[in-house]
Amino acid sequence: MQANFFLIFDTANWGVFAFLLLVAGVVFWLERSDRFHLAYSKYRRGGTLNTRVAMTVIYAPALILSVLGYFAVLAPDTLYHRLLFLAFAFHFAKRVLESLFLHRYSKPMGWGTTIMISLLYSLIALSFNDAHNMTTTVLQAESLALAPLFVGLVIFLLGQGINFYHHWILRNLRGQKDQAYKVPAGGLFGLVACPHYLGEIIAWFGLALMSRQLIVWGIFWVIFGYLAGRAIGTRRWYRAHVPDYPEQGRALIPYLL
Ligand SMILES: NC(=O)c1ccc[n+]([C@@H]2O[C@H](COP(=O)([O-])OP(=O)(O)OC[C@H]3O[C@@H](n4cnc5c(N)ncnc54)[C@H](OP(=O)(O)O)[C@@H]3O)[C@@H](O)[C@H]2O)c1
Repeated sequence: MQANFFLIFDTANWGVFAFLLLVAGVVFWLERSDRFHLAYSKYRRGGTLNTRVAMTVIYAPALILSVLGYFAVLAPDTLYHRLLFLAFAFHFAKRVLESLFLHRYSKPMGWGTTIMISLLYSLIALSFNDAHNMTTTVLQAESLALAPLFVGLVIFLLGQGINFYHHWILRNLRGQKDQAYKVPAGGLFGLVACPHYLGEIIAWFGLALMSRQLIVWGIFWVIFGYLAGRAIGTRRWYRAHVPDYPEQGRALIPYLL
């Protein structure tokens, strides 16, 4: 059988993809222009919810839904389905563990933002489950070329490594009770304001390459748009609020953006 790079899509698939591209542009513009920021971290607007708890509430439902989805739907047993499930669950398990044990948060955040982001990630988990476990049959999965699955997995793991390494650097900027924002140094922080976002984007690019589903490419572009806009806003925030933050350096991609 001849191996395909892509699956075959209908008009509805292309419609959803076009809509997600529009969303990507809007969230990029909102975060970049300071017109609207999701209210956590540097942009929190009050709230009483412990951020460690909030971040767990944000990420855990997507992890639970992906595990339930994979086993409850009795997903087809192919390498494609297995690797995609493991990569997706790994991503959200890592974020839950980092939220619980790694990050040092400064202040609490609000319930509204927490629930909104949690619902968005849950929607991504349901879409992921639908696109792979419910829609992609054994025959379709086995008609796909294997190279993008393995190359995508390597890119995914590389992105996760970059992301984790810079989270580790951020954690070590603060002592146990410290709430101050410092100038991050080490890794790619000398070149960009948010190398951890770059790692996240690389990981999602790897996932999209593994998946080859149009909706996952759409989700990738939304994440790219959001994190690129947020990184530009963060660099501006650092320059305004953190003494000695360097004037040179990019926001997200070394020498480019
Ligand atoms: N897929 C997506 O769409 C998406 C979107 C957003 C985030 N994420 C994931 O979540 C991760 C964290 O995102 P985030 O937006 O919360 O990152 P962030 O604002 O950079 O914060 C990460 C952690 O580092 C601390 N921190 C940040 N800058 C610091 C500084 N200059 N000095 C000392 N501590 C500092 C933060 O404390 P405070 O909480 O006190 O600020 C927080 O504990 C990302 O890297 C990514 O993996 C994914």
